[in-house]
Amino acid sequence: MSAPDLTIVVPTFKERDNVEELIRRVTAALGGVSWEMVFVDDDSPDGTADLVFAISRGDPRIRAIRRIGRRGLSSACIEGICSSSAPYIAVMDADLQHDEGILPRMLDALKASGTDLAIGSRYVEGGSTGTMPGLRAKMSRFATWIGSSWLGVGTTDPMSGFFMFRREFFYEVVRDLSGKGFKILLDLIASAKREVKFIDVPYDMRARERGDSKLSAMVLWEYLLLLCEKSFGNFVPVRFIFFVMMGLLGALLHLAVLTSLFYRAGVPFIPAQSAAVIVAMTANFFFNNYFTYADRRLKGANILRGITIFYLTCAVGAAINLMVATYLYHRGILVPFAGLLGAAVGAIWNYTLSTQYAWRQSGPRAAG
Ligand code: GDD
Ligand code: MN
Repeated sequence: MSAPDLTIVVPTFKERDNVEELIRRVTAALGGVSWEMVFVDDDSPDGTADLVFAISRGDPRIRAIRRIGRRGLSSACIEGICSSSAPYIAVMDADLQHDEGILPRMLDALKASGTDLAIGSRYVEGGSTGTMPGLRAKMSRFATWIGSSWLGVGTTDPMSGFFMFRREFFYEVVRDLSGKGFKILLDLIASAKREVKFIDVPYDMRARERGDSKLSAMVLWEYLLLLCEKSFGNFVPVRFIFFVMMGLLGALLHLAVLTSLFYRAGVPFIPAQSAAVIVAMTANFFFNNYFTYADRRLKGANILRGITIFYLTCAVGAAINLMVATYLYHRGILVPFAGLLGAAVGAIWNYTLSTQYAWRQSGPRAAG
């Protein structure tokens, strides 16, 4: 058996019922090409990886990587790609929504010219989103639109999960990939330091017949984070910006609670202020848990541990804030500046410790 020319990387999570049909279709589509398929499975409870391993006993072109304690479409693709020695690599979903029929055309396009990337596109003339439900299609179009207008990505389908590229191109950009969320293609293009030569190849996206889509509001949120990170993440960590925004939201809530308790309910100032602190800090924790640390969201008993650390962190942060501001005030700095600088130092303290301890990263580290 000769070394493959083309590796097809297939990220999977709970796709057991689609694996065999996918292999059958790819095999039929790629006559004459020497290929291999690498399934990167995040330890799916339905035993997807076991099935692929069983198939690979009889067909060495089929391989699997089983990742433990990890989730994520992009990082799965990156690892599958890194396991390949083939000059051409494709990424394709397992759920049969992508038309394997265009694989040979993508390969030819890459071989014939200096093209870096061939993109399966639903939006170019001749392609379509098929039977995608109305709202999904709208969301997808919207995300596509911000992807292309914000980052100036020229392809007609920057959200595509179906594409092929030269191995060298991947190694040009891999160290800058964020590896988060679903948007590996956008990430690849946005991370390149030069103009990427790509070609859009139209196809009709099919409906998913078995298993469920894992695309969720969370995935769209991660997509937005990716766009932010690519736009200004080099200057300030995007997470810090969110942390500060959630802090400002907390401050508004604090004011609302304080004034309504004090003015409307007639609660004396000190208990009213104390209640406002507790409400704001608690709300802040949950805002951060939901948005700022969406990728490390604490659940169940971990919330208790996280919130305790968060309270302690913020208490110390407030003390530091007070100390810095008082010091500056005594050195003759104008009151608003002394106050703001104190708050800034407090925020950096809170952010650093929260990231490090309250929402510490667990398990083997994900790419990015
Ligand atoms: N390893 C791994 N880990 N695989 C995953 C994970 C994960 O956490 N989440 C999803 N997958 C796999 C699925 O098993 C499937 O093979 C593929 O990634 C796509 O997942 P779907 O859940 O079917 O996504 P989709 O159809 O909603 O989204 C597709 O279309 C989008 C454009 O509308 C994907 O191709 C996206 O990349 C694409 O942007
Ligand atoms: Mn799908």
